Amino acid sequence: MTVMDSAALHRELAGRLAAGGSLRTEPWRKAVEAVPRHEFLRGGFFVRSAPDAWRPVLADADGWLERCYADESLVTQIAGTIVPGDVRGEILREPTSSSTLPSLVVRMMEDLQVEEGDRVLEIGTGTGYSTGLLCHRLGDDLVTSVEVDAEVSRRAGTALGACGYFPELVVGDGLAGHKDGAPYDRLIATCGVRQLPYTWIEQTKPGGVILATVCGWMHASELARLTVGDDGEARGRLLGGQVSFMPARPQMPPPLGMLPDLESGQERVARFGPEVLDAWDARFVAQLAAPHAQRLSLTLADKTQHVLIDVEAGAWAALVLDGEHRTVRQGGPVQLWDQIEEHLLRWQADGSPALTRFEILVTPEGQHFTWPKS
Ligand SMILES: C[S@@+](CC[C@H](N)C(=O)[O-])C[C@H]1O[C@@H](n2cnc3c(N)ncnc32)[C@H](O)[C@@H]1O
Repeated sequence: MTVMDSAALHRELAGRLAAGGSLRTEPWRKAVEAVPRHEFLRGGFFVRSAPDAWRPVLADADGWLERCYADESLVTQIAGTIVPGDVRGEILREPTSSSTLPSLVVRMMEDLQVEEGDRVLEIGTGTGYSTGLLCHRLGDDLVTSVEVDAEVSRRAGTALGACGYFPELVVGDGLAGHKDGAPYDRLIATCGVRQLPYTWIEQTKPGGVILATVCGWMHASELARLTVGDDGEARGRLLGGQVSFMPARPQMPPPLGMLPDLESGQERVARFGPEVLDAWDARFVAQLAAPHAQRLSLTLADKTQHVLIDVEAGAWAALVLDGEHRTVRQGGPVQLWDQIEEHLLRWQADGSPALTRFEILVTPEGQHFTWPKS
């Protein structure tokens, strides 16, 4: 591959992002054309080789450069420490850092609604590619990026420096923001959060914008954009697009521990079966009703059980679908499936409004979603 090849691939990617509608404005087009994604992937990446297995692709491998310019998320770290150069063959663990899908990175940059002179705080530096775009658009002095993993941050710093960008890179838990550089005009997170931290609102100017993915342990997730008000509260909407990100590290679900005795508890006919959780919008609504519940499936007495467990509360619900017949068995101090069904019924009675019509309010007391009647 020659330098010309990477430039051509780079131009082609920018063209595809514009044609696909994620790249919408000239300043971001210039940034996308200027920042070479392959510089941020010199350590290689992992590609899926089986449903839970990953195979490394190093920078000298055939096809490495082409994949750097494909509209594809590329995993760069697994299980918190393992990078592509560490693995021969395959690895079966979960990804912990990546270069996000370029069309999503660019869509988020556009959705952030930045203006010249805006000071931006990014949470989740990752490879540094999105940080590079921000630096190109706004200038290094206006960009601060926080990454929880020191090695990931160090590698991003090297790649950014190689491209001529020198933003402030901070190692720490981005859920705490970065007080020293506050207040910011814009805050963007490229890891998911279960609760938008109030610190982010405190560190953003009134009128400033926060863009982050709200996620949860049932794997429902959506991108939210909020504006900070003069009253110290932030209000906004979900933007749609079925956006999901790896959750912020301190917000990973706790270990499940011992499984509950699924033959104990109380059984009843269920109004909704487990299939309701396969629909994107309904799953989001269910997750709001049981924010600490984790979902798993297992086979018991020849029947597939769809189980929700809230480790903190010590509550569980196990759903079985037998032809048309749906049952739920629940145990613990709260009835998880009752809560979920009640929420889903209310949402349906209101006409099942789409997630893009949901409103989100963040106050010092926490985060609150409402939906309008259709
Ligand atoms: C999807 S990657 C970021 C992609 C990046 N913006 C890019 O363009 O390459 C998410 C990153 O968030 C980081 N992260 C997770 N939890 C975090 C936290 N609490 N604070 C800061 N960074 C965090 C992960 O280590 C990971 O590198």
